[in-house]
Amino acid sequence: MPLRYQNKVVIVTGGSKGIGRGIVKAFVENGAKVVFCARGAAAGEALETEFNTLGPGACKFVECDVTKEDQIQRLIAVTVELHGHVDCLVNNAGWHPPHKPTDETTAEEFRNLLNLNLVSYFLASKFALPYLRQRHGNIINISSLVGTIGQKDAAPYVATKGAIISMTKAMAVDESKHKVRVNCISPGNVMTPLWEELAAQTADAAATVHAGEKTQALHARLLQTLPFSFGALRFASSFKAADLTIERNPECKPKPDPSALMFGKHFSDHMLTISWSEKDGWDAPQIKPFQNLSLHPASSALHYSIELFEGMKAFRGVDNHIRLFRPMLNMERMHRSTERSCLPLFDKTELLQCIKKLVEVDQDWVPFSQDASLYIRPTFIGTEPSLGVSRAGKALIFVIIGPVGPYFATGSFNPVSLLADPAFVRAWKGGVGEYKMGGNYGPTIAVQTEALKQGCQQVLWLYGPDEEITEVGTMNLFIYWTNTKGERELVTPPLDGIILPGVTRQSLLDLGRTWGDFKVTERKMGMKELLQALDAGRVLEVFGAGTACVVCPVGSLLYRGKTYQIPTMQNGPDLAKRFYKELTDIQYGRKPSEWAPVVV
Ligand SMILES: Cc1ncc(COP(=O)(O)O)c(C=O)c1O
Repeated sequence: MPLRYQNKVVIVTGGSKGIGRGIVKAFVENGAKVVFCARGAAAGEALETEFNTLGPGACKFVECDVTKEDQIQRLIAVTVELHGHVDCLVNNAGWHPPHKPTDETTAEEFRNLLNLNLVSYFLASKFALPYLRQRHGNIINISSLVGTIGQKDAAPYVATKGAIISMTKAMAVDESKHKVRVNCISPGNVMTPLWEELAAQTADAAATVHAGEKTQALHARLLQTLPFSFGALRFASSFKAADLTIERNPECKPKPDPSALMFGKHFSDHMLTISWSEKDGWDAPQIKPFQNLSLHPASSALHYSIELFEGMKAFRGVDNHIRLFRPMLNMERMHRSTERSCLPLFDKTELLQCIKKLVEVDQDWVPFSQDASLYIRPTFIGTEPSLGVSRAGKALIFVIIGPVGPYFATGSFNPVSLLADPAFVRAWKGGVGEYKMGGNYGPTIAVQTEALKQGCQQVLWLYGPDEEITEVGTMNLFIYWTNTKGERELVTPPLDGIILPGVTRQSLLDLGRTWGDFKVTERKMGMKELLQALDAGRVLEVFGAGTACVVCPVGSLLYRGKTYQIPTMQNGPDLAKRFYKELTDIQYGRKPSEWAPVVV
């Protein structure tokens, strides 16, 4: 098995016993250089000798009382002195006092525990962060399941563990700009010396252990330390672009004529694949010749739609450089879809690096045209080879790319007609409409077919008793109108769970707000309100927005048997055209912007 954390520098607090000991062992077994601390020198030093004999990584014990700020500072300083940098901090040191009702717990006991279990995590993070930022490293905080579900006679302990979860979220938000990941693991009961000690203090230790097992909804028995510790390693170990291998295709295909490109019909010479398994974690990413996948027929993607994807583009600019457009927004959306699909998380920047490399390898496939582009389709599927609706134990990310032509072949906007039928629903509250999962799209084909049958080109998706207008086809919807106060306003539905957070949507909102020429509002709008505004002549433009077309004007609406004309084209459409020009200027390098990072 490849070493998953070779030569990385890891600090583990409370590393001589229990969970911490397991974490130190797992990292050393995976080639890391671990510095771990505890209060008791004898146990720590013995462990240092034991693990260093086992290898292949190494560890160093540092005596440290994590309730003392200067000692935490020293722990970080010793590590940097020894290894020059820090890749990962695992905050684990803590204590569970014997169970006691609130009435018998003193303020001092609570404050002391807060200091030990929570403030120590904060301080270790604070002092390690300057180094972690340099390495785009990560912090792993060990919390506890009880921080979420509570526990009897343990209010201070539960409070500290709950606060660790909240602090993790806050730091993750702050540190994302420094590319430091901050995660938290909340294990159930783990059979540690501390747990044994607590059980031994009760009248019937065996019964206490049994009760502990029963409180774990997810596990039939107490977790043992080591397998759990791999969780910490997994968080620390996304696949890395630096491990990417490239196998060149010896038989490259001829490129299609850029003036006759059909969407999604042409694919380049290479693809990116990254596989994952519960047992071995992430494999190294591979770029290899474009080829069929080999899947077990029971693969969970095929049976339960454990599948998600992204859609983004690369553009060849006027200066012949190739650019992406706000690609981190796609990575972030893919990450959210991944989490919702119970697929393994990964480092978004690492995936983007791999995708950039794929575009670079197949750069000749990016059309030499400012009307065409290279479509990029990152995909993530569950490949669990067994039936049963459960988390996938195996998964595969793959990315395929291919040239696509202009959405509006004639070079000018063609307005679309929409069928608005409240009988059909694309997404619903509590569902997964805000994620880009394959399961959201297959069922829409029948509705699209119905729209065509009724002479419309696309579907306007309505929702709920107010027939809220939500999206159009596979695009976000924008209405530019004069509102009832007489103000010019751009309106789009809010991201309330049933709307896909489009990259184009976000970009139009950002541009509109920057320009400041009209009001920009994210709010719900029902069919009744739209029809009233149409009737009053207040609607100026209605358009869809998405990667495929940038903006797509809407010309008419078929609703309850009646066709309503929308004067989008009669009004220019000035705003839709302005957005189109601004975004394509950025994409094709005609206007410099940090939204369009250069790949090659
Ligand atoms: C349902 C839906 N809404 C909106 C969009 C537009 O999103 P984006 O601008 O990221 O392409 C898409 C496109 O992927 C979509 O599938």
